[in-house]
Order: sequence, then C-alpha cells, then structure tokens
Amino acid sequence: MPQPFDIIIRNGQVVNADGSVHLDVGIRGSKIVALSAAIEDAGETEIDAAKRLVFPGFIDGHTHMGIPIMGTHSIDDFESGSVAAACGGITTIVDFTVQQPGEALHESVKERLDKADSKSHVDYALHVNVTDQPHKRLVEIPELIRSGYSAFKVFSTYREAGMMITWPEFRAVLDVVHRNGGLLFLHAEDNALIEAQTAQNVTAGHKAAIYHARSRTSEAEAKAIAAAAQIARELDARLYIVHLSSRAGLEAALEARALGAKLILETCPQYLVLTEEKYEQRNGHYWITTPALRTQEDTEALWQAVAGGDIDVVATDHCPFTVEQKNAAMGTFHLTPNGLPGVETLFPLLYSYGVARGRISQERLVELLATAPARYLGLDERKGTIQPGADADIVVWNPNTPWQIQAPLMHGKADWSPYEGMDISGRVEHVFLRGQPLVTDTEFVGQQIQGRCLHRKQ
Ligand code: URP
Ligand code: ZN
Ligand code: ZN
Repeated sequence: MPQPFDIIIRNGQVVNADGSVHLDVGIRGSKIVALSAAIEDAGETEIDAAKRLVFPGFIDGHTHMGIPIMGTHSIDDFESGSVAAACGGITTIVDFTVQQPGEALHESVKERLDKADSKSHVDYALHVNVTDQPHKRLVEIPELIRSGYSAFKVFSTYREAGMMITWPEFRAVLDVVHRNGGLLFLHAEDNALIEAQTAQNVTAGHKAAIYHARSRTSEAEAKAIAAAAQIARELDARLYIVHLSSRAGLEAALEARALGAKLILETCPQYLVLTEEKYEQRNGHYWITTPALRTQEDTEALWQAVAGGDIDVVATDHCPFTVEQKNAAMGTFHLTPNGLPGVETLFPLLYSYGVARGRISQERLVELLATAPARYLGLDERKGTIQPGADADIVVWNPNTPWQIQAPLMHGKADWSPYEGMDISGRVEHVFLRGQPLVTDTEFVGQQIQGRCLHRKQ
C-alpha cells in the first residue's frame, strides 16, 4: 500500500517571509501538498525536524558558472557549482548568458543552455547579457521576454573586455525591456573614473591588491547608480542594481528612489562580512572582486539597509577562481581575475552574521534569499515560499551545530575560501529539490542530474 505522502518533515519550525509556525510539511511527488500542526497519515520517508528550522529552498539570483574572464574561466561549471549550491541550501540559481562579439542574443541563450542542460543539480534560469551592439539586438528582446527570458543585464564598465555599453545604449535597452514587461539588471560603476584611477595607480607602480579598491571606488559606483537611476526615472522603468557594495552607492540609490526611481537593490555577502583590509593581508589579491570590498562603515550601512528593507535581495555573484588562477598575474591588481566563490556560503553566512547576531529576523532572511528573488525573477508561483502547491524545495537547518568555514569542506572547485575560519552557527542537514533529496544528514546525495531550466511567467 503506498503511503499518502512521499515525504513528511515533522516537528520543524517552518519559516516563511510572513511568519514562522511549528508545522509538519507533507510532500507528494514534486510538490508540497500539506502543511498542518500534526499530519496524521504516514510518509514513505519521514524526517524528524524537531529543534530545526525548515526554510523554502533558497534562490541565488546571481551566479557565473564557467564564464570567460581575463583570459581564463571561472572555475565552477554548472555541475560543480550546483553541488556547492545544494550543499548551501540553494535550490535555484540564476546565471547569465555570455554574448560573443557579433552574436545574436538568442544564440547566446542557446549556447549557455547547452552548458547548463543536463549538468545542474539545482533548478536554474538565465538572465540575458547584452554586451555587444545593443542597438542591433533590441529587436530580439520582445520575443525573448515572451519565451520566458524576461531579465536582461548590462554593464556600465568593463570597456576593455568589450562588455560596457554607453548611457544612450542603456536608455534604449531599458526602454525596450521595460515596455515589454521585462526587468533590466545593471552592473553600475562609472568606467571613466575607474579607467583614470587604474591608469594613475598602475603608472605610479601601485599594483598591489589594495589599489583595486582605490581604483574601483565607491564614488564610481555612486556616480553610475545616479546616472542610471535618472534614466530609469525618465522612462518610469524598474531597474535592478546588482551587487551594491558601498554606502555611497546606497545613498545614491536611496536619493533616486526618493525622487521616484523604481530601483531594486541587491547586495552580496562579501560586502556585508568582508572589508578591504583583506587586500592588505597576505595573498590579498585572492579577494579581488568587482565591485571591490569596502570599509567597515560601508558594511554597517549595507546591513542597516538589508535589515530595514532598503535592500531587496542578497545574492552571491559566485565567480570563483583557484589559487593558481589568482596567482597568474603575480598579485598585479588589474590583471588578476576578479570574482569570489559564494554560492555555498550565502545562506550560512546570512544566517550566522544576520539572524544569529540579531541583525535580521529569520523571516527577513527568507524574504531576501527566497521570496523576493522568486518574485523579481517571475518564479513566485512555484518557488520562494513553503505553501501547498509550491515546488517541494526545502532546506532543513540545524541552528545548534556550529562549525568554521574551511576550504576543504566546500564542494565547489575553488581551492581556497574568502571566508576561511569564519564561524557558522548551524548546518544544512537536508535539502530537497522538487521532492528529491539533494542533501541528507549534511551529505550531498544527488545521484542523477535533476535541475531543470525555469522559464519565467509573464
Ligand atoms: O568580480 C566579479 N564579480 N566578477 C564577475 C563579473 C561581475 O562583475 O559580476
Ligand atoms: Zn558585475
Ligand atoms: Zn556578476
């Protein structure tokens, strides 16, 4: 006789963005089908989650698996990166296409899908990068949005890599994306300021890691945010600012919001728990990432905005490199590949340095890492909340088992961790993706590739 439920997660504290309740969760097939104080029927599998928190599977809306950067590739592909994601409680990642010079957007989507398909252990979606000849590509945008690729991304920097678009091009892309119901993401840094400061530092022989932060300054971030927000306001279009790193950038965004700009703000754990002091330590160039790490004062301003609701989403910008890749330019800041691993530590860090330290509630954490990203990415009918009818993407977290981050414990391909030695106040014990176990008793158990490509609702 089959049991009425495939899985029941019993006795846990179920945490949603709008509240936490002691409940049993019943799963049948790929869906959550029951939530009740005490489910009477039995399940094929029963998990005792007493003294545990039961969260919806988290969403990392900003990853870069195996992308080309500065003559090399970020080291995680969709397979290794998705194992790391699962072990950190992430059940959906959203990555970015890579548009080659001269390439049509739909071709870049197809190429990226070929890299992800049959490789990802977690569900995934794609944002479409528009980096080359934006005016020529505008005509493709409405059809891409209709077919479920509704988020696009542009860069106001990385001119040397051929990825920067100009402000008139930005306006044109934002206009088309907005008028067709999509959402534009922006990497906001003023390129002219960065190029001038970089050239000045390099010419003066200042090539150590700290000059990364002194070349890619908070002012450059704030200037680009102000310019972009002004255009967004003129078009009355929503604009998603990725990886906000600084107090100056935050203030520019909040000023623009006060004038009516519809900005959605994302920050990343590295800007909340690390500072530019890392650049002055031994091997400081390992921490080179863009935007640069900032000061303690910046992290405090960002935490306040995360807690108070001014920042909407926390994602990782996962873009890892090995020690060998980081060392290839002998520590020269502007030649070191930029990016950090992050997908496995997103939720543990936000829990430990946010919830456990009293900066944010566990419900706010769910809003930042699950409910809000699901909403902005058009996945909210299925993801981001524990409710009957939603995908059975579940994370069981034991908040009573502290440990310390050490690179060999991580599951991605980076052989170092930017968070080495940091205290974590709990363990991801179980993870389910659409009812299938990915993590059981803290061990990755995903056998076959289960991850599916998600297309957004309109
Ligand atoms: O340094 C970083 N974050 N590299 C990845 C590309 C980007 O700017 O998001
Ligand atoms: Zn970026
Ligand atoms: Zn990024």
